[in-house]
Amino acid sequence: MPKVLVSDTIDQAGIDILQQVAQVDVKVGLPPEELVRIMPEYDALMIRSGTRVTKEMIEAGTQLKIIGRAGVGVDNVDVEAATRQGIVVVNSPEGNTIAAAEHAVAMMLSLARHIPDANASVKSGEWKRNQFIGTEVYKKTLGIIGLGKIGSHVATIAKAMEMKLLAYDPFISRERAEQIGCRLVDLDLLFQEADFITLHVPKTKETAHLINAEVLAKMKPTARIINCARGGVIDEAALAQAIANGQIAGAALDVFENEPLEADSPLRHLGQRIILTPHLGASTAEAQINVSVDVAEQIRDVLLGLPARSAVNIPGLYPDILEKMRPYLELAETLGNLVGQLAGGRVESLNVTLQGELADTQTQPIVVASLKGLLSPALQERVNYVNATLEARERGIRVVETRDGSVRDYSGSLRLTATGSLGEHTVTGALLGESEVRITSVDDFPISVAPSRYMVFTRHRDMPGIIGKIGSLLGSFNVNIASMQVGRKIVRGDAVMVLSIDDPLPEGIVAEILKVPGIRDAYTVRL
Ligand code: NAD
Ligand code: MLT
Repeated sequence: MPKVLVSDTIDQAGIDILQQVAQVDVKVGLPPEELVRIMPEYDALMIRSGTRVTKEMIEAGTQLKIIGRAGVGVDNVDVEAATRQGIVVVNSPEGNTIAAAEHAVAMMLSLARHIPDANASVKSGEWKRNQFIGTEVYKKTLGIIGLGKIGSHVATIAKAMEMKLLAYDPFISRERAEQIGCRLVDLDLLFQEADFITLHVPKTKETAHLINAEVLAKMKPTARIINCARGGVIDEAALAQAIANGQIAGAALDVFENEPLEADSPLRHLGQRIILTPHLGASTAEAQINVSVDVAEQIRDVLLGLPARSAVNIPGLYPDILEKMRPYLELAETLGNLVGQLAGGRVESLNVTLQGELADTQTQPIVVASLKGLLSPALQERVNYVNATLEARERGIRVVETRDGSVRDYSGSLRLTATGSLGEHTVTGALLGESEVRITSVDDFPISVAPSRYMVFTRHRDMPGIIGKIGSLLGSFNVNIASMQVGRKIVRGDAVMVLSIDDPLPEGIVAEILKVPGIRDAYTVRL
């Protein structure tokens, strides 16, 4: 039975799902070195934001197939190291959207009306109504940075409060922003005009310290910033200084560069101009059930050999697409494997052409499957859909994708050309009926052959007796031929011969085949 390690506190609903297929060990709060020590035992790891999944941990996870992050941000996972090792990383992109958006709005209103400090004051026995004069959000301008799932939901709530909405998101169209009720503007304008600025971006190289001393200087002295996205998007020292100097009016922060927030952080000493919560954006009962179930279902599926629906390191390979394309992926993998073995040596480039009706399909999964096939003789089970692209890139294999809808053989076909240190080979293939893979040409010689485990391909001159000689030669080595086909373009010209055989070819037989008059090249292939 597979084993799953749950190393952060996760809602029981997810654990119940995992227990249907695996032994689940819940071990929260283990130190990093202990996690590294026990990783080799586990097939899957489920975390929230508490566990930092390092390269060292991933490399120790020799059985690891999947890392499930019960939440959105995967910045606590070394995704590159996981990808390199062929481990799927999944998250729950929508499970806590509402919770995080509502927390951002709650932070904005709390900041506007000093609710946390007023509450603390009353609880301490005071009654100081004049000390907590707030500001309304009605008709104020809200600048939303990052108009994705959470940013859009914040916009919907803010619109209901009749705020004016500006948004900055370089990956969102003007039309989409308008649909949500936001005017898309550049960052400078947003910083100058907004009364409240709310951040909803991932932490990337571009968003690190997006809010810094320089941009804080552009804001209104009445501006207030809310960050329920990721620590590190704000330069905390610069923010603390800008609030202390009265350069801006305040901030409400749920996330920090270092969590837990350092005891001596200057952010802790800004009185009622700042509100701090301990990364509570997703902390609602509903969100915790959503993310736990969402990620546990994906871990269960991957352990059962099914695809994951929200893998962050195999973009584009969504389960519905994978399911529909499965026969074509098998075709691509077979052809990739075949063309790589025919090319031999070091492959420098792979041209993938989707022909006929196949030209209308999504290219990426087909390319990934072709690369997986191409690399599998060298990497065996170490290559999979997760790491095939990275492995190819690291080997310097240039990939060219083309579509050619004008080719009208079969209902759709795939053409792969591998160019390498030993020359260039091209194979094409198609599906017969719904799912039967056929190799339909080799080096542009037409054939129609079902792939088999052991095959021999020759290039030869089409002449009488050659087929018989190869047949007798293989017979003399006790090799049983299951099928044989010749592809040629003109009579007595160049041709290819394809033999499917029942057993692996004995050592040295290729050298014997090459001695047969008329044979120019011979390749043994194992698919
Ligand atoms: P999302 O992917 O739906 O949206 C992110 C948006 O940011 C996208 O529209 C993207 O185009 C935009 N973006 C990317 N780079 C940008 C840049 N340089 N400038 C401006 N916009 C940029 O993600 P989401 O689900 O809305 O989550 C947003 C953030 O909230 C993430 O960082 C996530 O980790 C965080 N989050 C925090 C909590 C919490 O507990 N505080 C909970 C959930 C999510
Ligand atoms: C997330 O990215 O989903 C949030 O940080 C919430 C969390 O996991 O605590």
